[in-house]
Amino acid sequence: MSHSPRSPIETLRKTLRLDAGPEAIAQAARLLRAGGLVAFPTETVYGLGAIATSDEAVAGIYAAKERPSFNPLIAHVPDLASAQAQGVFNADALALARAFWPGPLTLVVPARPDCAVSLLARAGLDSLALRVPAHRVAQAILMATGLPVAAPSANRSGRVSPTQAEHVARDLERRVDLIVDGGSCTVGVESTILACLGDGVRILRPGGVTRGQIEAVLGRPVDEAEAQGHALASAPLAPAPLAPGMLASHYAPRAPVRLNARHVAPGEAVLDFAGQLAGGSPRLDLSASGDLREAAARLFAALRQLDVPGVAAIAVAPIPAQGLGEAINDRLARAAAPR
Ligand code: TXA
Ligand code: MG
Repeated sequence: MSHSPRSPIETLRKTLRLDAGPEAIAQAARLLRAGGLVAFPTETVYGLGAIATSDEAVAGIYAAKERPSFNPLIAHVPDLASAQAQGVFNADALALARAFWPGPLTLVVPARPDCAVSLLARAGLDSLALRVPAHRVAQAILMATGLPVAAPSANRSGRVSPTQAEHVARDLERRVDLIVDGGSCTVGVESTILACLGDGVRILRPGGVTRGQIEAVLGRPVDEAEAQGHALASAPLAPAPLAPGMLASHYAPRAPVRLNARHVAPGEAVLDFAGQLAGGSPRLDLSASGDLREAAARLFAALRQLDVPGVAAIAVAPIPAQGLGEAINDRLARAAAPR
């Protein structure tokens, strides 16, 4: 299954946990620059960071996550200028970066010939994914590190993404050097990934910036991603999944997930939205008032809380499809996909 470049035993290490503050940020930068693994908060989810310029450091991410090696990673940088040092921005990419950075948007653009992001982080592609996070702790770490930081979500591959430091510790304790605790992530679902590769703008993964917001900036509808790897058509190494969306089962709790539930069966836990479902234990409402922003922020923590031993399934109430509902429904569909 796993193609980790290191054996699991080599990933075992002492994990330091620090509250976000000047000391934690200095320590994070020091460890990253030395090739270590640092989990840190972003506004979307916690990231598992390594400097993106070193194949060896990046290999540590794949090993700790037990992630299939040819899934490319997002390079995080503190600002647009740093992003333009690595990738080529066309007019659409520039407009989107100016509108949404810093924020929960990732742009896949052609790599510059002198791109410093390692080929391992890019999975051998001639494009790369760039993101400028808004979270003040992520910003501070990126500034102090002074190099692009590759950072997928700080969970083991296939598990629910972490929105609290405690979630990271549960999945990656003894596998990372430092966890910087910056509290709960405010957006709660990963960044929207857009391909800007000179052939229009395509959504590779719905996320924290909505389709409507993107179309308002572009002044036209975005194109749909094809089911198989348009953006990765030029992959020289291997057919890689286009985005996490292409992996059938992702963000998966242990209990089966039943979507669009109208009633609750005996033994089921309930993930409600705006008070549609009665009964179930344990049960949580993502947003009693029907606020999709609140629902996105609570989604992953809720899935973890409901995924307790003995639960027959997690019944999920219907969630509206518009706005952030697109990203929420995307993650729920993956949580419910056959494993
Ligand atoms: O919100 C987020 O984006 C979080 C936080 C930590 O920033 N990060 C995150 O990274 O979700 P990750 O590695 O889980 O998702 C990156 C996805 C990959 O699954 C990959 O398919 C896609 O971005 N990607 C990366 N480079 C790509 C490329 N050159 N072409 C197409 N897709 C790419
Ligand atoms: Mg992930």
